Amino acid sequence: IEKDATPFKLIGEEKLSMLVDAFYRRVGKHPDLFPIFPDDLTETARKQKQFLTQYLGGPPLYTEEHGHPMMRARHLPHPITPTRAQAWLGCMKEAMDEVGLEGQIRDEFFARLTLTARHMVNITEEEL
Ligand code: HEM
Repeated sequence: IEKDATPFKLIGEEKLSMLVDAFYRRVGKHPDLFPIFPDDLTETARKQKQFLTQYLGGPPLYTEEHGHPMMRARHLPHPITPTRAQAWLGCMKEAMDEVGLEGQIRDEFFARLTLTARHMVNITEEEL
């Protein structure tokens, strides 16, 4: 593996784009998630492609258009329970299966997303 092979390069722009589309198709139907997302997920998916590109070591597309990611702060308006974080990760796992993202690159990406998803939790089930 060449030294500058970022996860973004290893996955590739096309597969990442397919992954995000497969992910939001599931989010849009998931009973725990669709109520807190917009009906039209086009713009959400566009921003997520920008964000994950830079998260995986690709060009800083999200920051160029939207500024510092501050992901936890940007999620505070949305009530994110541990159940919703699990649902989000479940949709992502299924999306990875759908696009055939496998092996070490998948495992490392998913492990990192698991930590980020937990970090987004901002309310308990009881407080909801
Ligand atoms: C935006 C929910 C985790 C990245 C959003 C929005 C919701 C949401 C409701 C607003 C959608 C919109 O109005 O367009 C959740 C839930 C999560 C979660 C329930 C469960 C833990 C994550 C994680 C990441 C992420 C782990 C990144 C790895 C983003 C991005 C946006 C976003 C990039 C767009 C921000 C913007 O408007 O600029 N999320 N999210 N989210 N989320 Fe999450």
